[in-house]
Amino acid sequence: MKKTILITGGTGYIGSHAVVAFEQAGYTTVIVDNLSNSSEQVLSKIGKILGYIPDFHKADICDTKALDEVFSKHGFDGVIHFAGLKAVGESCEKPFLYYGNNILGSINLFEAMVRYKVRRIVFSSSATVYSSDNTLPLTESSKLGTTNPYGTSKLVIENVLQDLSLHASLQALPLRYFNPIGAHPSGHIGEKPNGVPNNLLPYILDVALGKREKVRVFGDDYPTIDGTGVRDYIDVNDLVDAHIAAYRKLEEISGDTNGSFTPVNIGTGRGTSVLEMIRMTEEATGKKVAFEKVGRRSGDLAEVYAGVDFAKEFLGWESEKTVKEGIESGWKFISGV
Ligand code: NAD
Ligand code: WQD
Repeated sequence: MKKTILITGGTGYIGSHAVVAFEQAGYTTVIVDNLSNSSEQVLSKIGKILGYIPDFHKADICDTKALDEVFSKHGFDGVIHFAGLKAVGESCEKPFLYYGNNILGSINLFEAMVRYKVRRIVFSSSATVYSSDNTLPLTESSKLGTTNPYGTSKLVIENVLQDLSLHASLQALPLRYFNPIGAHPSGHIGEKPNGVPNNLLPYILDVALGKREKVRVFGDDYPTIDGTGVRDYIDVNDLVDAHIAAYRKLEEISGDTNGSFTPVNIGTGRGTSVLEMIRMTEEATGKKVAFEKVGRRSGDLAEVYAGVDFAKEFLGWESEKTVKEGIESGWKFISGV
């Protein structure tokens, strides 16, 4: 019999790709999303790929009654938890919004899981939980520490999951994503930020599209290959495959009545600079991407990339797609060509 998985945040950027990937891997998915950063139209796009639309509940994870209704209706085998707010800058302006939505919402979700005896959870964590004074690559045992309320919300949720693994037998697998990029190869789903994009690739693609004038390159005097910031860009299609590998890992240990808590980095292990991203986008799209070098953005690090050995060893997963492929699929989604 097919297992039913709850996907919170399933109409969002990464969650929508996960819904498709889990359905295609033979699971039944149920989506919970309050549509605060996504739209119901994503459901029909998912429908175009799958040929049917999975069960959707417009509900807020902060609403305990609504969550209870969802849990009482479905017999969940496990949860993939994407729902959350993710803008670092906004979290500094509105910290309580982030603590409330991300931390309290997650605690409600975990409480419902424990009440309904659902033990497996894959959680969207972030490389942002690592302290800024580590050596590279960042491994799962690198020092933890955060500098903004968004990052703190992720680290607190990880800590809560660790407690619940010890005291409520939850089997938790937080995945610490590096920088997700790209879109589904169909071009139907992808990343569509509201307003001005915070992240680099959506901004570059907007410039290639003619929607924005030029990319502001934040800093050109970092000790990196060309002076600009270096990040580990992970293709969203690889990223959702990592969730399937993680979920299968949880199924493997299902006989164990003890809980578990095992954070895993999800990246490629390779860094790409801002100028390299711009050049590759010009190549992939055939469009000119104008840019201007400006001062460093506060809080940015020179270089960040993942240690990926543990993901390979523990999950048997490693990234396959190139950054260029991520740019190409992102362009196909955003430009419609
Ligand atoms: P997204 O904003 O596209 O998706 C998040 C979804 O959660 C949205 O559809 C939103 O409407 C929903 N949501 C937010 N609060 C909710 C609530 N209280 N109840 C129900 N639904 C709610 O973001 P994404 O890029 O798909 O990110 C998914 C997860 O991955 C987030 O938790 C994010 O913090 C994490 N993450 C993202 C990145 C990234 O760069 N995209 C990197 C690391 C971690
Ligand atoms: C990438 C590089 C910028 C925009 C953020 C969050 C992190 C995670 C992923 C959720 C940096 C440079 C950017 C621009 C630029 N999200 N840049 N001009 O900062 O690595 O990570 O998203 O968990 O928590 O902090 O990603 O895409 O903002 O920046 O020069 O207009 O591009 O300085 O070097 P970042 P990003």
